[in-house]
Amino acid sequence: MENFEFFNPTRIIFGKKTEDKIGKILKRDGIQRVLFLFGKSSIKSTGLYDRVIHALQKEGIQFVEHGGVKPNPVLSHAKEGIEKAKKNKVDAILAVGGGSVIDEGKTIAFGAETSGDIWEFFKRSRTIDKALPIYVILTLAATGSEMNGFAVMTKEETQEKLSVSSEHLFPKVSILNPELTYTVSSQYQAYAAVDTIAHVIEYYFSGQYCPNLQNRLIESLIKTVMENTEIILQEPQNYNARAEFMWAATLALNGITRLGIKGGEFPNHMIAHALGALYDLAHGACLSIVIPAWMKWYLEKNIKQFERFAKEIFSSKDAHEGINKLKEWFRKIGAPVTLREAGISEKDINRIAENAYSIAVVWDMAEKYSKEVLTEIIKKAND
Ligand code: NZQ
Ligand code: ZN
Repeated sequence: MENFEFFNPTRIIFGKKTEDKIGKILKRDGIQRVLFLFGKSSIKSTGLYDRVIHALQKEGIQFVEHGGVKPNPVLSHAKEGIEKAKKNKVDAILAVGGGSVIDEGKTIAFGAETSGDIWEFFKRSRTIDKALPIYVILTLAATGSEMNGFAVMTKEETQEKLSVSSEHLFPKVSILNPELTYTVSSQYQAYAAVDTIAHVIEYYFSGQYCPNLQNRLIESLIKTVMENTEIILQEPQNYNARAEFMWAATLALNGITRLGIKGGEFPNHMIAHALGALYDLAHGACLSIVIPAWMKWYLEKNIKQFERFAKEIFSSKDAHEGINKLKEWFRKIGAPVTLREAGISEKDINRIAENAYSIAVVWDMAEKYSKEVLTEIIKKAND
């Protein structure tokens, strides 16, 4: 096992009706005024918007609204939020939604405490040293943003999708009520399953050594995600299935699964972010296209781990079959597995490779992932 340091300061409040506590939690922490972030419409149609406002008003917490966060959140909307946060002198961010709302909330949290071009932080030429405290009510379990220090944003003008990471971006408190995810569509549930699996397999395959404890943790998370997704697609209001899925999604990217692994990178996310930036495709759908292609390209570089994956997840002796079965499962739950299925032309392969390469440069992965290598991988996404 490799040496490691682990830090995760987020308090998780998990279970039924826990969102009603938000006013009391903020008051206990001495928060008087929040920037209240949410997405396009789901929070209003489910009635959660009214319940949150009621909980805030009951405890005398003032709020300024910043709604309309879009999936694959954009920098221009975050900048509007930063102006609102500064002008109204809010002392915290309250993000109610999925990964997009939380990530924009995190961006506003550090943007409100700095001046200059915030994109420099995503380009990794500046580091975050301060942010407003972040509070979350999660409505879609997928990204793990509720218990990690990452935020992912898109700069529309340049079609760049990049991430930023800092200890200051861990939410202070995240409220996880599985009932709030009952209304997530089957399409987004499928994308959420793909994303969660993606978070655990990146290091599992690309690391040079993975301790057995981590292997088993990861395999347990994958099995939990697959089993419960199948139940959720049949019974969207099955509490235990939603609960197991929700907690698995949080554990998948809160830092624990990568501990003690030697090396490891996030290549599938790098290529998926290029697709997200160019086509505004849902993150999970980008990953379901990229993962089988990357796996085929990477197979020989870590054959033993692919054999293990095939055996543990699909009771198969054949590493190739493990990849094909995962691809079939993605397709079965309704996620696209080729560029064509997502309506992306083969003619765009160079453009995708170029965009992915620009991310590789920022992520310090350009040596391994040259434009030629990226083109080779992306071509496999049309097989
Ligand atoms: O906008 P509304 O109307 O709320 O609808 C949303 C949106 O259309 C809807 N939704 C959310 N909760 C719902 C619901 N619909 C019905 N009932 C509910 N309870 O779902 C749609 C997708 O929401 P979004 O937040 O975009 O999805 P997700 O949680 O998958 O977040 C995706 C974003 O997170 C980034 C992705 O790149 C993408 O930009 N990621 C963030 C990470 C992180 N911070 O750690 C890591 C990930 O790898 C990922 O990159
Ligand atoms: Zn992801």
